[in-house]
Amino acid sequence: MQLIDGKATATAIKAQIAQQVSDIVANGGKQPHLAAVLVGHDGGSETYVKNKVIACEQCGFKSTLIRYEDDVTEEELLACVERLNNDADIDGFIVQLPLPRHIDEQKIIMAIDYRKDVDGFHPVNVGRMSIGLPCFISATPLGIITLLKFYGIETSGKKCVVLGRSNIVGKPMAQLMMQKQYGDATVTVCHSHSKELKKECLEADIIIAAIGQPDFVTADMVKEGAVIIDVGTTRVPDASRKSGFRLNGDVKFDEVAPKCSYITPVPGGVGPMTICSLMQNTLLAAKGIF
Ligand code: GUN
Repeated sequence: MQLIDGKATATAIKAQIAQQVSDIVANGGKQPHLAAVLVGHDGGSETYVKNKVIACEQCGFKSTLIRYEDDVTEEELLACVERLNNDADIDGFIVQLPLPRHIDEQKIIMAIDYRKDVDGFHPVNVGRMSIGLPCFISATPLGIITLLKFYGIETSGKKCVVLGRSNIVGKPMAQLMMQKQYGDATVTVCHSHSKELKKECLEADIIIAAIGQPDFVTADMVKEGAVIIDVGTTRVPDASRKSGFRLNGDVKFDEVAPKCSYITPVPGGVGPMTICSLMQNTLLAAKGIF
């Protein structure tokens, strides 16, 4: 069994990005600039955004953090998106999800100029991705594709099961794994209403677990030699930690790992790659892809 080190891979890729930025600036070009909009004080979102700002520094990007309280109105948020759309210095921006319930998330995503949508959530980017056109690809699926490539893991013609059908991970992941230029695999998507989910998993060469249920994938669901990618990051109470919680993956790591050829840990697997992919998208935005 080989552990897939997402942290080390992300560090190596961010160093390559920093080198490219340094070359761009040395040649008189503009420093890439990412903005992040954070609403409220959700612990997970605070951590993600803090780590995105740190990654910007590591890559030599400029970053701007815009904060709103939970009671921000949809109109105020739409006005903020409009300002960012029109700010020539900002190459790309994200609105951290989830948003408070009184705000229509889809309406906010639709308001983002797709040319600055480095999250790849706008329907134009989703549509372009699904037919293989240049676009911003959602950061977590892109990070997973990058990891598989980095480790030389063969995906072409393999059976891949994606657990979960979210717009952010499951759906784009299945699309990418299916496409010739990325995964080129035979893909099955399983979700909360799938029958014979265990049987599907047992036939899989690659399982990508993104359902947000801690320890959902157990050893009896995994074929000997399978590749396991764990996207789960559920906060579970842990009195032994200073924070009072730990991040738990969707895979029961201790019993599944011995059966695998490759497996990602939580933390230190997919998480750091997600942020790294956002940095790649921001560099692409600064260079101009459309
Ligand atoms: N919430 C959880 N993951 C993400 C992400 O990749 N982007 C944004 N904007 N919000 C998220």
